[in-house]
Amino acid sequence: MRRALRKEGYIVDGSLATAVYLTLALERPLFLEGEPGVGKTELAKVIAAAVGRPLIRLQCYEGIDRQSALYEWNFPRQMLHIRLAEAAGRSGGGEAGGEPAGESWRDRLEEELFSPKFLLRRPLLAAVDPQGPAPVLLIDEVDRSDEEFEAFLLELLAEFQVTIPEIGTLKAEEKPVVVLTSNRTREVHDALKRRCLYHWIDYPDFAKEFEIVCVKVPEISRRLAVRVSRFVQRLRREPLFKKPGIAETIHWAQALVALGARELDAAVVEETLGCLVKYRDDLEVLTAEREGRPYLRELLQEIEAMPL
Ligand SMILES: Nc1ncnc2c1ncn2[C@@H]1O[C@H](COP(=O)(O)OP(=O)(O)OP(=O)(O)O)[C@@H](O)[C@H]1O
Ligand SMILES: [Mg+2]
Repeated sequence: MRRALRKEGYIVDGSLATAVYLTLALERPLFLEGEPGVGKTELAKVIAAAVGRPLIRLQCYEGIDRQSALYEWNFPRQMLHIRLAEAAGRSGGGEAGGEPAGESWRDRLEEELFSPKFLLRRPLLAAVDPQGPAPVLLIDEVDRSDEEFEAFLLELLAEFQVTIPEIGTLKAEEKPVVVLTSNRTREVHDALKRRCLYHWIDYPDFAKEFEIVCVKVPEISRRLAVRVSRFVQRLRREPLFKKPGIAETIHWAQALVALGARELDAAVVEETLGCLVKYRDDLEVLTAEREGRPYLRELLQEIEAMPL
């Protein structure tokens, strides 16, 4: 599993590789929690690539409801269809000789209007009733949805079937691989978690971060990659409001390469700190002096002094 994911450019440790393996082997959803930018969404994408299945993504947001997640009727297209049917009826195509008000005509029109042709398939329906092979279904940032929607998800994950009153019940022939993610802005209900394999993705340790930088920014020198990873590791121990995630480390490494930087000196770090730290207060904490000494310089000296 580790090798398969690494081939897609994703570095996992043993416990996460095991969780992914079990998700596939036991056909149970994987519930990923962790700080922002630690690779939750990306993992679902690389699982899809590694197992050669399409990815279907449902991005949750405040106020998301069943319709926007499951299916909607294409109202404008239905209206157009009615107009066209009426026009055809008036010009003599109607069953009652130019008079399109016959009962069977109306029944047939209604049946047509609620046929799959006018169905807008949203991600959950597309996952239950795929046109191709069973997909990987990513339900991203489920903590942003409300509890009612969560209860609905619970029901769907138990059955993998959807009932559309006008069409009937659709059931997944093969269960999709399901990955749910949460940034933990609120606690997701136990009942939903119980259905899933749970994994907390932590910030990476030095070795993992270094490997990720080398894989994602291959142009970077080993020497600079070591320094970049060390600096970010050290930064996470600072009392910041928002600690940098892996996404930030990668952006920073890319920025340093783009600037042709070979070393981490105070000037280049200060100029590119916006890649790592996204809050003004955090920037001030790092760029201000501490006890009369420039703190950023001290951090860099500390990193420079470590053996390579
Ligand atoms: N283990 C890893 N191996 C390789 N790349 C990684 C890894 N973890 C994270 N990344 C990279 O970090 C970036 C951010 O990852 P991603 O968007 O998946 O984070 P997230 O946890 O979903 O963040 P958010 O909570 O903000 O949505 C991606 O570009 C991804 O390629
Ligand atoms: Mg994400």
